[in-house]
Amino acid sequence: MERTLSIVKPDGVKKNIIGQVISRFEAAGLKVTGLKMVRLTKAEAERFYAVHKERPFFGSLTEFMSSGPVVPMVISGGDAVKKVRDIMGATDFKKAAPGTIRKDFADSIEANIVHGSDAAETAAFEIAYFFNALETF
Ligand code: CMP
Repeated sequence: MERTLSIVKPDGVKKNIIGQVISRFEAAGLKVTGLKMVRLTKAEAERFYAVHKERPFFGSLTEFMSSGPVVPMVISGGDAVKKVRDIMGATDFKKAAPGTIRKDFADSIEANIVHGSDAAETAAFEIAYFFNALETF
C-alpha cells in the first residue's frame, strides 16, 4: 500500500472534468482516501512548489495554481505513485502517451490538468500540506 497526492488543477476544474480524473484512478484499482476543494493563495502555491523556485516558470506556475479552485486528493493503492503518474502522462502533453489524462485534456505544459507526487517522500510532504490526520482514511 502506497499513498500519493494528486491535484486537479484550476484548468481541470474549469473544464468540468474532476469526475473523469477520479474515474481514471478508480478504474486502475486505486482508491480516493482524501478529497477536498480549496483555492490556494499565491504564497500557498509558492510553498507547495518550493522545489521549483529557481525555475523560470515558477512565477507563472504559482499564478496559475492560485487562479481558481483546485481539488487535492490522496490516492492509495499498490504502487500508487507510479500508477498515478502513468495515468496522468508526461508533464508536456505533447509527449504524453495516448489515453493519458494530459494527452486527452491538457492545453499546455503548464495547464496540464493534474498533478501527481513524483516519489513517496514527496507524497508525504504534499499530503500533509493539504490534509490533516482526520481528513485521510
Ligand atoms: P506538475 O507535475 O504539477 O509539476 C510542476 C509544474 O510546473 C508542472 O506540472 C507544470 O504545470 C508546470 N510547468 C510549467 N512549465 C513547465 C516546464 N517547462 N517544465 C516542467 N513543468 C512546467
